[in-house]
Amino acid sequence: MLKLVVKGAKPLRGEVNVSGSKNAALPILAATIMLPGRSVVRNVPNLLDVTTMIRVLRALGLRAEYSQSSPNTVNVWNYQVRHVAPYELVTKMRASFFVIGPILAVKGLAKIPLPGGCAIGSRPVDIHIKGLEALGARVELEHGFVIASANRLRGAKIHFDFPSVGATESVLMAAALAEGETLIGNAAREPEIVDLANFLIAAGARIEGAGSEQIRVEGVPQLAPVEYTIIPDRIEAGTLMVAAAITRGELKLKRVVPDHLTATINKLQEMGVRVVPGSDEIVVAAGDGFKAVDVKTLPYPGFPTDMQPQLTALLSLSAGTSVISESVFENRFMHLPELCRMGADIKLEGQSAIVNGVSRLSGAPVRVTDLRAGAALLLAGLAAEGETLLEDRDHHLNRGYERLAERFNALGADISKK
Ligand code: UD1
Repeated sequence: MLKLVVKGAKPLRGEVNVSGSKNAALPILAATIMLPGRSVVRNVPNLLDVTTMIRVLRALGLRAEYSQSSPNTVNVWNYQVRHVAPYELVTKMRASFFVIGPILAVKGLAKIPLPGGCAIGSRPVDIHIKGLEALGARVELEHGFVIASANRLRGAKIHFDFPSVGATESVLMAAALAEGETLIGNAAREPEIVDLANFLIAAGARIEGAGSEQIRVEGVPQLAPVEYTIIPDRIEAGTLMVAAAITRGELKLKRVVPDHLTATINKLQEMGVRVVPGSDEIVVAAGDGFKAVDVKTLPYPGFPTDMQPQLTALLSLSAGTSVISESVFENRFMHLPELCRMGADIKLEGQSAIVNGVSRLSGAPVRVTDLRAGAALLLAGLAAEGETLLEDRDHHLNRGYERLAERFNALGADISKK
């Protein structure tokens, strides 16, 4: 168990580099399954979820490792691919399921364990499966495994019921090597989709329209290995922005793409936080106080569900009442009772949290249930008076953030391991 002690009420100040995007790195590493030879992926954050994806690639027969000489670089050697992904890794991290499209595309057969539920909702994979079936795959469920087979995937016209990020990525990867044209309608538009498409294009794929709701893929017979640099992590950047505001400090975020953060920047500005975006940096400072605002999570370019817990922590210190509606995941409010233990005044009504701002939070022992809930509690701990003890049984914070406590300490925080 990871236990962190946070001594709060210390303003964070200084400059901080934003890491590479976890949610771009995971599908891009999965896509290396389709690139025979040696690929090099740069700006990969060094965190547990990426390590899990590297272990999945190894279990599939590839050689993959962080470079010893060049930080945040992953080298992949792909000379053989097995078609069965291991149960203990896929059930550990849902994104491991994303290997199904690439394995199916190169082997004609993929056997992947169902990822199962998780703390923030049931998270089925039906949209992935419907998409692969539309490309001509036969998909069966047997003994907890999804078994997909196809002699040759064929391009098709697909329309998603919901713009699922992972399903868009699964179909995009499989369609890159299918025969003929695929049109994906109601596709997810997240920057991580664009990054995956750019990676595949660099490897020889023919893809147009990534970042819009219609993506067109013209299948090619094979892809070639590449060197590629991942985009900055917009959720880590948003978390750092809230850290500056909630501690009433001032941070300059470097190596960031402000355009990817428009919804977060707008919400913070609406609250009265001073946010000044530059071309690849953002300066954030707390204003005189925090105004209450309403927010609804939506697929990109709407407000990201992955920033909802962190914004909730900040809104718990606002003047007035805010309504936070969660429309992407059905159970993403596990952080609320923990924030209330720290003095927040929040009620859950259906899929909405009603936050009555309070003037201060006080440190308390709290339990981390998932990655972004953990980020929210750490942020609350940084702002709270006294000591907060975060109990993170499953190392959620290390799954999604690279050395976050250490980097906060370099900016003036007081966080220690217990
Ligand atoms: C990705 C992100 C995650 C983020 C989420 C939404 C990665 C590795 N993870 O997750 O951090 O919170 O996007 O922005 O990129 N759904 C179905 N059937 C499916 C697929 C999804 O019902 O086949 C539902 C899910 O249960 C959820 C919603 O659709 O309620 C959104 O899921 P999706 O966009 O697929 O998220 P992920 O790709 O899992």
